[in-house]
Amino acid sequence: MGRYLVTGGAGYVGCHLVLALMDAGHTVTVYDNLRQGHRAAVPPGATLIAAELADVAALNAVLADGPWDAVFHFAALSLVGESMKRPFHYLMENAALGIRLIEACVAHGVPRFVLSSTAALFGNPEHIPISEDERIDPGSPYGESKLMLERALFWADRIHGLRSACLRYFNAAGADPAGRAGEDHNPETHLIPLVIDAALARRPEIAVFGDDYPTPDGTCIRDYIHVSDLAEAHLRALARLEEGSVTYNLGNGAGHSVKQVIRMVEQVSGRTVPARIVGRRAGDPAILVAASDKLRRETGWAPRYDDLETIVTHAFAWRQAHPRGYDDR
Ligand code: UFG
Repeated sequence: MGRYLVTGGAGYVGCHLVLALMDAGHTVTVYDNLRQGHRAAVPPGATLIAAELADVAALNAVLADGPWDAVFHFAALSLVGESMKRPFHYLMENAALGIRLIEACVAHGVPRFVLSSTAALFGNPEHIPISEDERIDPGSPYGESKLMLERALFWADRIHGLRSACLRYFNAAGADPAGRAGEDHNPETHLIPLVIDAALARRPEIAVFGDDYPTPDGTCIRDYIHVSDLAEAHLRALARLEEGSVTYNLGNGAGHSVKQVIRMVEQVSGRTVPARIVGRRAGDPAILVAASDKLRRETGWAPRYDDLETIVTHAFAWRQAHPRGYDDR
């Protein structure tokens, strides 16, 4: 059984990976500053170290307490729009602190590193579905900060032999099927939880950001991937590192429009969702859908919950059961 360090393991995607690791019998330590993450999202049995990534002493202490089989690095700022207003903040917090973490992992002899990367590397892609070979052109400092980490990992492997997996997430969605964890951001900006809140009358309506895109119904299309399938892909990618470093796009390979998501929430909840078309949100590409065949072929990964109905059903169940999220603020 392995021993793993998960930065950002109290956050949405990170905590689902922690559950997957623990379900597989591994030992997990979470390193999280709990600004976006939640203490209550860390499952019993995992060790939590509440510290900043910038805290060199704390970081070195935990890395020295090895050996670690791998470090999973989730801790990051992740809002594209915010990064357009505070570029240097994103570059410092995500890129600079991330590079320092990679350097510390090399110094402490960590053999494997798994990075939460993003579809935001592709800006406005030319080809759909998006393969790993698509032109990289981050449309935001957020995407740029993740690209810098991918490049740092390239050199960490080439010069120091640190094996890494760069996993470019498309739209993480849903919740743990057993109801142990779910999505709780503050503020919430993601489509599915906001539409669910509108269905539950916790907010007056959902604002649809544009219906004049070049898509069949005019609204943006995204590749929603179940957060537990995303977690499983991390375990598969980790095993694949035996053969060398890898980069994968992580989506289901199918797209759904904003209007389709709203209709699915109505179907799952049995309620009407008040929706209003507003202007486009700056920086939103019309279509982002992953080509997931490389991941499937090389790791044997296959999503268990790839239909939108199941994704929305799990998200709805968690959000309905946790009106105030983890309620630990
Ligand atoms: N949307 C609305 N109304 C809302 C919120 C979202 O219409 O109130 C639309 C957006 O315009 C977009 C779609 O719903 O077309 C999905 O939006 P999200 O904010 O849920 O997700 P994004 O696709 O914008 O962003 C996600 C991740 C980012 C990541 C990006 C990769 O959250 O971290 O994918 O491109 F960078």
